[in-house]
Amino acid sequence: MCGIVGYIGAQEKKKILLDGLQELEYRGYDSAGIAVISDGKLQHFKAVGKLKNLREKAADFRSEGPGAAIGHTRWATHGKPTELNAHPHVGAFSYVVHNGIIENYRELKEELEAEGVRFLSQTDTETVVHLFEQKIKEGLEPFDAFKATIDRLEGAYAILLISEAAPETIFFAKNGSPLLIAFGAEEIYFASSDTAVIGHAKEAYYLEDGEYGYACPGEVKLFGPEGEKTISTKPLPADKAMAQKDGYRFFMEKEIYEQSTVISDTMLGRVLEDRVEFEELDPSLFEGIDAIKICACGTSYHAGLAGAYLLERMAKIPCQVEIASEFRYKDPLLSPRTLFVTISQSGETADTLEALKMAKRAGLKSLSICNVDNSSIVRESDAAILTRAGIEKGVASTKAFATQVMVLWMLTLYLGRRNGAMTPEAIAHELEAMRHAPRALLVGERLHERIHRLSKRYLHGHGFFFIGRDLFFPLALEGALKLKEISYLHAEGYPAGEMKHGPIALADAELFTIALMPKTLLYDKIKSNVEELSARDATILAISPEAFELADDFIRTEEADHPMLEFFEMMVVTQLLALEISIRLGNDVDMPRNLAKSVTVE
Ligand code: G6P
Repeated sequence: MCGIVGYIGAQEKKKILLDGLQELEYRGYDSAGIAVISDGKLQHFKAVGKLKNLREKAADFRSEGPGAAIGHTRWATHGKPTELNAHPHVGAFSYVVHNGIIENYRELKEELEAEGVRFLSQTDTETVVHLFEQKIKEGLEPFDAFKATIDRLEGAYAILLISEAAPETIFFAKNGSPLLIAFGAEEIYFASSDTAVIGHAKEAYYLEDGEYGYACPGEVKLFGPEGEKTISTKPLPADKAMAQKDGYRFFMEKEIYEQSTVISDTMLGRVLEDRVEFEELDPSLFEGIDAIKICACGTSYHAGLAGAYLLERMAKIPCQVEIASEFRYKDPLLSPRTLFVTISQSGETADTLEALKMAKRAGLKSLSICNVDNSSIVRESDAAILTRAGIEKGVASTKAFATQVMVLWMLTLYLGRRNGAMTPEAIAHELEAMRHAPRALLVGERLHERIHRLSKRYLHGHGFFFIGRDLFFPLALEGALKLKEISYLHAEGYPAGEMKHGPIALADAELFTIALMPKTLLYDKIKSNVEELSARDATILAISPEAFELADDFIRTEEADHPMLEFFEMMVVTQLLALEISIRLGNDVDMPRNLAKSVTVE
């Protein structure tokens, strides 16, 4: 995820770009840059790290007077967060900023290199500016050159391009990544999200996929696959805080709704036709490895537990999962044939980081699954897979968890193929299911409304048991953790088959059991476990595609043909349940008491 802004007008351009980027910094902050064209001349500034570094670097730069400008804040996907890899990317006389991933960039790059073009960065984006300039050199008019360029791109993009070949013009295109055009009195703005332009502009047009065009003072031309289009603007919200939440009441709610989109980002360029590839992994990382140890805290630990079921069952690799704070002091016996995998949303959790250092000292190779590039855990690891969830603001993790689980599922296919444990048919079956995951994560309006109504019955009682079996046991743990974190009600996650060995003694009408009852995995087993609880008068909320007559409440999920699709859908249900209960109790959903988003102390 990255943030982009653009501006055409006579005001101080640097300020407009930097203030706009500030609002988009949540979309990525490992480097930032701006490029301005005024009096027909291009100038640019880039800096690694947060936006304040760029502000300092460009402190003496003045950019008043007519012209066009673009800016970018980066969340690295291809290439490390260095200044060379920061946007805007430069050609001989043009600059481009891009949010998304150009999937065919290698092919384009080879083609351009064969024509003598030299690349400065490791990014996919740089191909766009060179492609554009090649078309200009071939004699095309600037807009035709831009159109010919985007016609060659595959993947996701929101692109802004400026060039000395057409000063005062911004060329733009959108496919899969967000982009809007906003209109001020005399000025034209572009941004990934409206928070960047609120206060400057009153009206905006939100581009659709496949749209492109150009803007210059007093004129915006918009085109779609069917030709020229008219622009119908919408009024922009006046309230910035509300706009940041996109109209949702809480960031956590927004992030639950975002899961379907961010999981697509997680898969982008990695889930291929017949396999999973991680460009960021050197296959030698897995040489001599015959076991995996996963180490993490909190929600990330739960993702690890779910991943272990997948890795052992499908990739046939022994996999243990440990809580980092426990691992550190147990004098673990470690073998260099074990790959040490850390999972962390923030990449800064002290216990996880220290566990990683211990493993490294013991000579283990390490891989991190993390949401923040350049974080301590990523830097400390031999290799990293970024989860690409975008910044998560709600303290209770939702979309970060979804993307962690997705990465572990993808890693399973990657390793299962590598070690021959999975046949091409088995991989094809998993990939088919994987492609349906974004749909399983969509939040239906009726579902949310039903959970909202139902939640009023679950505001009291002496506790909740979330129960599930197999993969759904970690999900039960995570569902209980979500509820605890934001409702302050006591909740436990438990393996359903284990209830009879003790906890069933608690069963009475005031004990709420949230039963995860997928149809694709051990349905009859979990059904018997829930029947045992029902017979002892526990109040049952069943979550299942199949109606369950002993349930006091029932949330119907879709019939699916793969447990992971049921997993993701039930995950959304448990998240919404915690959210609605917390809201009814009047709690601060995004900043629950006593918690912190990143725990950098032991
Ligand atoms: C804190 C957060 C949790 C998170 C845990 C691990 O306790 O409140 O939401 O799961 O840390 O954080 P990490 O960043 O390592 O995933």
